[in-house]
Amino acid sequence: MSNTGCRKRRDVRIAIDGPAGAGKSTLARRLARELGIKYIDTGAMYRALTLKALQEGIDPSNEDMVAALAETVSIDLKRPLEDGGEQLVFLDGTDVTSLIRSPAVNRNVSLVAMHPRVREAMVEAQRRLASGSVVMEGRDIGTKVLPEAEVKIFLTADFAERVRRRCRELASRGYVPDVHEVEAEVAMRDRIDSERETDPLRPAEDSFLLDSSGMTADEVAGAVLGLCEERIGCSTGSSARWRA
Ligand code: DC
Repeated sequence: MSNTGCRKRRDVRIAIDGPAGAGKSTLARRLARELGIKYIDTGAMYRALTLKALQEGIDPSNEDMVAALAETVSIDLKRPLEDGGEQLVFLDGTDVTSLIRSPAVNRNVSLVAMHPRVREAMVEAQRRLASGSVVMEGRDIGTKVLPEAEVKIFLTADFAERVRRRCRELASRGYVPDVHEVEAEVAMRDRIDSERETDPLRPAEDSFLLDSSGMTADEVAGAVLGLCEERIGCSTGSSARWRA
């Protein structure tokens, strides 16, 4: 994707990390659209691999099997159909953009993502995808994938709000969310993602911590765009410009 609307003087990398339901995707997509740079959702890659394991009847806890699958599977991320839209995900050539958000994938993805060999393969692929200017979201972007990112945001929100957002997201995809199940799933993912040995979820030392509880998406985007302006001198809008 080119940096349309932005006279780029140098590449800019923006890392967005945080727990499930904190609002990372909404923020990352908005930033990518406003700044005219590409957007990569790394969670989608772990989700696509999880879907493949489930389709093949592979136990998500079996590191050998899942790591072998990671070597053979083809996961392609394509730019959203419209600016600010959802990134499209293809698994072995099939569009799985919606399927990777199913409750079954939600329940199993943290188990797949905890295996060191799986992470090694994913981090390598993610670094390749991050060439040029990028907004990348995940759990270990600021600490592992792009430790040299110019702007690092660690986005959180309180548990009840994250559960509400997850339920809304599931409903918007045609599922009927059970709030207790969603609570259990978010709590489990929080625990596995932050307690795993390899690249656990934690803020990078130089990250900007933002608690989005009680904030609207516009307020969150406004705060982060302000930070981008301060840190890297990039303003927004159709006439966005990078300062030298
Ligand atoms: O952001 P998400 O909910 O789509 O991520 C799905 C899972 O993938 C998440 O529970 C942990 C894992 N993940 C990860 O370990 N590292 C990343 N960079 C992105 C996601």
